[in-house]
Amino acid sequence: MAEALRHILSAEQYTPEMIKILFDRADAITKEFAADGRFTGDRSKLAGHILYRLFYRESTRTYESFGFAAQHLGMDVLGTQSVQFSSVAKGETLEDTIRTICSYNPSLIVLRSASAGEAEAAAAVSTVPIVNAGDGSGEHPTQALLDLYTIRQECGRTTGLHVVMGGDLANGRTVRSLVKLMLKFDKNEYTFIAPPTFEMGADILAQLDKAGVKYTQSTTLDALKEADVVYWTRVQKERITEAQNQFLHENPNATDAYVLTADLVAHMKPTAKILHPLPRVNEINPEVDADPRAAYFKQMHYGMLVRMALIEWVLGVEV
Ligand code: NCD
Repeated sequence: MAEALRHILSAEQYTPEMIKILFDRADAITKEFAADGRFTGDRSKLAGHILYRLFYRESTRTYESFGFAAQHLGMDVLGTQSVQFSSVAKGETLEDTIRTICSYNPSLIVLRSASAGEAEAAAAVSTVPIVNAGDGSGEHPTQALLDLYTIRQECGRTTGLHVVMGGDLANGRTVRSLVKLMLKFDKNEYTFIAPPTFEMGADILAQLDKAGVKYTQSTTLDALKEADVVYWTRVQKERITEAQNQFLHENPNATDAYVLTADLVAHMKPTAKILHPLPRVNEINPEVDADPRAAYFKQMHYGMLVRMALIEWVLGVEV
């Protein structure tokens, strides 16, 4: 039987061994970039391979970093971010679109889809590995990987951390995938800060309960001063529910209390780090950017390095 395709669908599937391989490789890749930004590593192993990006929803970092990652590795890059001009607009299903792309022989497909579960549906018909680049409010497993890598680089460890996650925890897929991934590491605890109706999903809380992991839910920002990692997120306005929409309508200033400002950050531990998957809208004031604890711009650079390592792993490149 042919070897199973290395789809990346959920953060649950990463094993500690796999994470170690990927992070060691990302470390090595870092050193393979010359001072002028060019990649000096081996580009021959993936020459002739094509990475295809199929994006049904908006993206800057995920779309671009996968493109740059593949180009640096010597691959060719194709794809579309405008499915409204494809047969999707005529009503073609995701499955038939995947079958179509597969018939042209890409090496892998990076897929951003509209709804939770669609990456799995795509994988069920794909003849090449599917990498889930965000499926609705489901998961964002490659973001979780780069978030964890950022934590390792910036905090020096991935265990024994108080992680304070804030913002739209109900619709954000990055927080969901990151908790799933961090559950594989010991002694981390969580505070989930969200306005009413935007709380962390019950399925994630149930996973934490089952694992006996400590967490607190809050509507205030008091836990910031206890945090080792502050992971902030925006309101996912493209996916908010009727109830959330109504809450925001009735409380138009509700999210003002969740804006990270220099004053708030001043109360955080000197060793704490601030992460955000980006884009930020207004939930981190730009005055925080100059704070040495702000790690969100480094985080997006790490994203490309980690995705380079991940592409190699998915394609079985021996390094
Ligand atoms: C995130 C996403 O798409 O889930 N962005 C990203 O991939 N870096 C977060 C967001 O859009 O708020």
